Amino acid sequence: MTNALSLIVLAAGRGSRMVSDLPKVLHPLGGQPLLAHAMAAGGALAPAQIVVVTGHGADTVEQTLSAIAPNAKTVRQTRQNGTAHAVAQARAALEDAGGDALVLYGDTPFVTPGTLARMVEARAQADVVVLGFEAADPGRYGRLIVEAGRLTRIVEFKDATAVERAVTLCNSGVVLAPAQRLFDLIDAVGNANVAGEYYLTDIVGIATARGLRCAAVTCPEAETIGINTRAELAAAEAVFQTRRRAEMLAAGVTLIAPETVFFTADTRIGRDTVIEPNVVFGPGVDVASGAVIRAFSHLEGAVVGPQAVIGPYARLRPGTVVGAAVRIGNFVETKNAQLADGVKLNHLSYVGDASVGAGTNIGAGTITCNYDGVLKHRTTIGARAFIGSNTMLVAPVTVGDDALTGTGSVITDDVPAHALALARAKQVNKPGLAVRLRARLLALKAAARGTAKD
Ligand code: UD1
Ligand code: MG
Repeated sequence: MTNALSLIVLAAGRGSRMVSDLPKVLHPLGGQPLLAHAMAAGGALAPAQIVVVTGHGADTVEQTLSAIAPNAKTVRQTRQNGTAHAVAQARAALEDAGGDALVLYGDTPFVTPGTLARMVEARAQADVVVLGFEAADPGRYGRLIVEAGRLTRIVEFKDATAVERAVTLCNSGVVLAPAQRLFDLIDAVGNANVAGEYYLTDIVGIATARGLRCAAVTCPEAETIGINTRAELAAAEAVFQTRRRAEMLAAGVTLIAPETVFFTADTRIGRDTVIEPNVVFGPGVDVASGAVIRAFSHLEGAVVGPQAVIGPYARLRPGTVVGAAVRIGNFVETKNAQLADGVKLNHLSYVGDASVGAGTNIGAGTITCNYDGVLKHRTTIGARAFIGSNTMLVAPVTVGDDALTGTGSVITDDVPAHALALARAKQVNKPGLAVRLRARLLALKAAARGTAKD
């Protein structure tokens, strides 16, 4: 038995309005599956266990979860008989949970940890705490019925009377109660309603009838937005990006045109950094203080050191680790590449599966030929080396400290430290031959025209 919190995340619904083969909760928002957002908010309360209820697309959802939240358990709801039925599926997984259980929806990404913490506080005065909000347009939400200052029941829109439908305090779906009590209350839920479903919301009326206290905590409506369609997903992405941009600005990051910069939930950027317009941060990017990310760059799975200058038009792919004051210029792509402090990689290059020592300069057009069609190979370049423009480094290959490669070289053998490697055809000059060659070609062209006229 543990008294710590358990998290139950409902993610079994079909999401048919997404018109998608991908389960709704796996559609990305801010570069992460929708599901991960509610889990992160709940995760801020440091739950002892997390149970995700899967159903539609369960295999795919479980596969994703094993990658992003390996400590989360999953249980399957084979038929979607309602939210109470969904929560009941978590019972066996939580049989030794002695603390509270918090129910979240996988398709509701904006609930904040602060709001959830207020629900936890409210549990001191109530047995069941429900998260509600004042709806601008209450539409089809469940209505929270408050009588004599107490939450006594929740009525679903479909089952509500005209008077109840006039209530604007609505149910977000988030519920907090002692885990075992929650399951006991759910046992008493029936499905004699318009939808023929087992409503989780019925536990409030049942708890009230048993003399238990229920309370509503409210939050801004924006936190309770659920995603049902691609249009709602796009609108949520805009909300997410607006929020992240504001967080970045507040944390000391300069964004010249904030509305053109896109972040992921996990993007980390130090203070006194400058992000120029039209930069995209994919998952797993960490930028240190004082760096500049110039316009039209795309970064993913990359660590950028202090005072580094990246772009314009640079692409940093996963596994890129850039040291202090590194310069990566236009039309450069890096992948799984460690560039030590002060490396210069300024123009038109691909550096992949490589490590480059401090202070090395890599000339324009240099390519690490890391792939032989079957296997990937590493290129290792030492410190203070100079790689001439348009060098092809055919991996696996090593270039030592202070070495130099001649422009246009195709380096297939290791270059020792301090050596100059030249691996290109030697230049030959043939005096007068250009003029004679041109004359011959012009004659050939004239002859060909004459033949065509005949
Ligand atoms: C639910 C609430 C309603 C609230 C609204 C907020 C109930 C009965 N109603 O209604 O009071 O205002 O959310 O958005 O709880 N799910 C399952 N298995 C099921 C059914 C649902 O996993 O059998 C999941 C869905 O995938 C979804 C969530 O639970 O993430 C809510 O289900 P949904 O059908 O959208 O409930 P609403 O009718 O919107
Ligand atoms: Mg819904």
